[in-house]
Amino acid sequence: MTSKHALNIVKMKKMKQDNIPITMITAYDYPSASLAEEAGIDIILVGDSLGNVVLGYDTTIPVTVDDMVYHSRAVARGAGHTFIVTDLPFMTYHGSADETLRQVRRIMQEGHAHAVKLEGGAEIASTVQTIVQAGVPVLGHIGLTPQSVNQIGGYRIQGKDEHDARRLLEDAKALEQAGAFAIVLELVTEEAAAAISRELTIPTIGIGAGRGCDGQVLVFHDVLKYTSEYREKKFVKTYADLGEQIRSGISTYVQEVKTRAFPAEQHVFTADEKLLGSLYGKGKVDSQS
Ligand code: KIV
Repeated sequence: MTSKHALNIVKMKKMKQDNIPITMITAYDYPSASLAEEAGIDIILVGDSLGNVVLGYDTTIPVTVDDMVYHSRAVARGAGHTFIVTDLPFMTYHGSADETLRQVRRIMQEGHAHAVKLEGGAEIASTVQTIVQAGVPVLGHIGLTPQSVNQIGGYRIQGKDEHDARRLLEDAKALEQAGAFAIVLELVTEEAAAAISRELTIPTIGIGAGRGCDGQVLVFHDVLKYTSEYREKKFVKTYADLGEQIRSGISTYVQEVKTRAFPAEQHVFTADEKLLGSLYGKGKVDSQS
């Protein structure tokens, strides 16, 4: 594990001023979070995209606060030195301020996140302000907002014309004014995203939003092709093919069990064996006496 101190929202703003790109990746469980931390990521997002990539839903809409808390806790156990942002899922921040703060409390206290992310622009600025005033950092998210996919009418690129680009800029400014510490720009034209990034003092973190953002975020399963059927996406660069490696590894295991090649002599315990070594958990050593 790299010995680094977790980033905080003050350092993130300084990174923007110093033109140092911010790196963010999603993670949803203990091993993915530990590996992301070891790789030196700045921020881990426990995104509600877990609905798609981990739970097998078609959209993020069925994801609940219980789901987010469960996965966020696992991520926090795996990445104790990394800044963790956890999504507030669909319709959990559109009721009363009390109800919203109850959900935020669960994400922070039970999910051990350092910040929450909300989708939406000017229309949720007062909610962002309420959460920030309660002492919780908020990451905004505009552009393509998957929780509103049915209202947007599909997964469309945002900011294609001047009117739309201006609307996005106004949303971004409203979130900044409400106290958001950074804003995710998802599927936004490079021109609009660059203009927003120039106008704001807080960092923008892009996904499919081009090269002018202050940081980038991608989904873990996209970066590593960790899925059975990977669908190419223009805005994603894949850095490994875990799907193929996992399929091939399991297939070899199946073959070796079928042909009795596994277990071999080195995998079996004999009567005089004493040390079991690390069976489960982090470096746990169970010695028999
Ligand atoms: O849920 C998620 O993973 C996200 C990213 C795509 C930014 O919101």
